[in-house]
Amino acid sequence: MLGTKQILEREDLYIMKHTVLTLQEQKKNNDKITMLTAYDYTTAKLIDEAGIDTILVGDSLGMVMLGYEDTISVTMEDMIHHSAAVARGAKNAFIVTDMPFMSYQTSVHDAVVNAGRLMKEGRANAVKLEGGLSVCPQIKAITACDIPVVAHIGLTPQSVNAFGGFKVQGKDIENAKRLVEEAKAVEAAGACMVVIECVPAKLATYISEQLSIPTIGIGAGNGCDGQVLVYQDMLAMYSDMAPKFAKHFGQVGTAMKEAFANYIKETKAQTFPAPEHTFAISDEVMNAIK
Ligand code: KIV
Repeated sequence: MLGTKQILEREDLYIMKHTVLTLQEQKKNNDKITMLTAYDYTTAKLIDEAGIDTILVGDSLGMVMLGYEDTISVTMEDMIHHSAAVARGAKNAFIVTDMPFMSYQTSVHDAVVNAGRLMKEGRANAVKLEGGLSVCPQIKAITACDIPVVAHIGLTPQSVNAFGGFKVQGKDIENAKRLVEEAKAVEAAGACMVVIECVPAKLATYISEQLSIPTIGIGAGNGCDGQVLVYQDMLAMYSDMAPKFAKHFGQVGTAMKEAFANYIKETKAQTFPAPEHTFAISDEVMNAIK
């Protein structure tokens, strides 16, 4: 039989991993939630070890990992493959995995089945889907299966063709009102967090104040309860698109190119591999095989 102290100690161990409860607590304490994207084991491990709260396996992987011009072509298999790799690398971060285009819009049944696959095969802790009122039935049904759902409003990249491009959302009265309604609706449907993308800062702050669930902003100012960035954007590794909100926290793209160029130069010059990178064999063995 475990005593109370032992039980508390064990509970302390459990909360090292971020959960829906710890993230909710962070909102209450105004402790900003940090989120970055990751798509592979090595990067997830580095980001996790840096102390991130949550990792998003975003369908942005279609653009930054697979080279598509948008997220439309990303499949369930892509998401499961990358999510499982991230889950193997991240021990403490709460892992949110995107539901790709047409994996939940088609029906509530499809949404539940595909959310289940991202949890079982992709080892996600929550799924994220884009949209407001139109996806509330899906959010209700998925959360009824005890799968946490993160909503995503504002600029929803899967709607790029309907929007006519990647554009700031909610700038006029009608659209600002609609975003407030959508945020309230996804919360009422059971979402545990909501990503707000490319929305004027004052509007995103107002929405964050209206909700009891955490809001995570991207291009939505610093009044949200947390922030998310695509890691290739914040490390200046991806140059196909340069969003205004993507601050460069390091010139990793340049550092990578320099390292690749040095490798090419040294290999051509035969200064790599040097003796310290080389395995030795005795003359006796070499002579015996000649
Ligand atoms: O797919 C993604 O990376 C996202 C973020 C931009 C929020 O949805």
